[in-house]
Amino acid sequence: MSEKSIEIAAPTGKLGVLLIGLGAVSTTFIAGVEAIKKGLGKPIGSLTQMGTVRLGKRTEKRVPKIADFIPLAGMDDLVFGAWDIFEDDAYAAATNSGVLEANLLQEIKTELEAIRPMKAVFDPCYVKRLHGTHLKEGKTKWDLAQQLVDEFQQFQKEKNLDRMVMIWCGSTEIFIERKEVHQSLEKLEAGLKSNDENIPSSMIYAYAALQLGIPFANGAPNLTVDIPAFAQLAEANQVPVCGKDFKTGQTLMKTILAPGLKARLLGLSGWFSTNILGNRDGEVLDDPESFKTKEESKLSVLEHILQPDLYPELYGDFYHKVRINYYPPRKDNKEGWDNIDIVGWLGYPMQIKLNFLCRDSILAAPLVLDLVLFLDLAKRAGMAGIQEWLSFYFKSPMTLPELYPEHDLTIQLMKLKNTLRHMAGEEQITHLGLDYYQ
Ligand SMILES: NC(=O)c1ccc[n+]([C@@H]2O[C@H](COP(=O)([O-])OP(=O)(O)OC[C@H]3O[C@@H](n4cnc5c(N)ncnc54)[C@H](O)[C@@H]3O)[C@@H](O)[C@H]2O)c1
Repeated sequence: MSEKSIEIAAPTGKLGVLLIGLGAVSTTFIAGVEAIKKGLGKPIGSLTQMGTVRLGKRTEKRVPKIADFIPLAGMDDLVFGAWDIFEDDAYAAATNSGVLEANLLQEIKTELEAIRPMKAVFDPCYVKRLHGTHLKEGKTKWDLAQQLVDEFQQFQKEKNLDRMVMIWCGSTEIFIERKEVHQSLEKLEAGLKSNDENIPSSMIYAYAALQLGIPFANGAPNLTVDIPAFAQLAEANQVPVCGKDFKTGQTLMKTILAPGLKARLLGLSGWFSTNILGNRDGEVLDDPESFKTKEESKLSVLEHILQPDLYPELYGDFYHKVRINYYPPRKDNKEGWDNIDIVGWLGYPMQIKLNFLCRDSILAAPLVLDLVLFLDLAKRAGMAGIQEWLSFYFKSPMTLPELYPEHDLTIQLMKLKNTLRHMAGEEQITHLGLDYYQ
């Protein structure tokens, strides 16, 4: 050990996982945890469950599993609570989502049926393709936030929870830019009371969570916690927050490939990405206003990785297009195609074609588990505000306004593991390695 370790409270007792939206991602996550607890599957894709961290020199051969190295809550300690605009319990919702096979769901039916969503805070102005019936009523957005605060407290008491974490797994809301009402907590609270139209449902949940000191992760591209008012509230109440938009299919591939092209200084003239997807998420994204939110999130990745301002000859003028097409027969099994036009020595053109037949929620579920456990860790370690070390999980990582986000998956992983080393008082790994040869 070379640094002073951070004091981290032990993960005693139960951890409540508040899931907003009980759709494909949430149910695949919950069902996965229940199945893994029963030995019916493995937590593939989860860093907290399968990942390791190298400590000290390569010659020391100290490579513990992350779960053995840092105090994380266990899967047995998780207690799920959910909110949705439909009444379906987690078993019915998982069955409707069509991600997991019926025989697997049958084995965990009792556990899933016990999770019944509480009434949602929802306004179809912000998600135009959905019309739910399982909704809270309130004159103002402020009233709705107070109802959520009461409900979260009641849930904690009823389930005898030590701590709670909230993950937004709800539908993608329409594109909203930062406005005056988002600039300070005072303005946001006034906006909640006057029903300001720039406060969508997701912000009402985030407000209630942060009020109670509940860490919040945003799995969708909505602005939600990424506004100055919430930075202020997170700081005041010492709450960790992170987002936005789980990095799963096509964008995951983009943030693996693009850094490689840049590392070899191969130029780019165009990158065309298209997808077909047939789940409810695809249906919501078929609405141009929700798609705009997603598009903004997906487009920014290449600009940040390739840094056209530093490499104008290689990346000064590339064409980038992202399309998502709703195609019901495919359900959650998305297919993505990428055509990448690259440029080599003396300007000679080449092409890369990528065809990813992925399963959206199978890729997202382990990220939800990691975020639950890492956000809870951050809270117990006294880390408040934006958790940039969790950028690894997101398409549009939140940062301070003066910083640009880091999108390169390898750098994001290094940052995450160095943060864990830092918490435990272990030496940072720089990959210099000269001392081995001296
Ligand atoms: N699956 C992935 O790989 C992936 C990747 C990145 C982002 N996301 C995002 O994660 C979110 C969830 O994805 P999904 O595939 O589970 O979608 P889904 O449509 O299956 O589930 C979303 C659920 O949220 C509910 N909902 C909508 N608004 C709500 C509100 N205000 N309060 C409570 N519930 C609400 C819907 O009724 C639905 O059941 C989406 O925003 C999606 O864009 C998913």
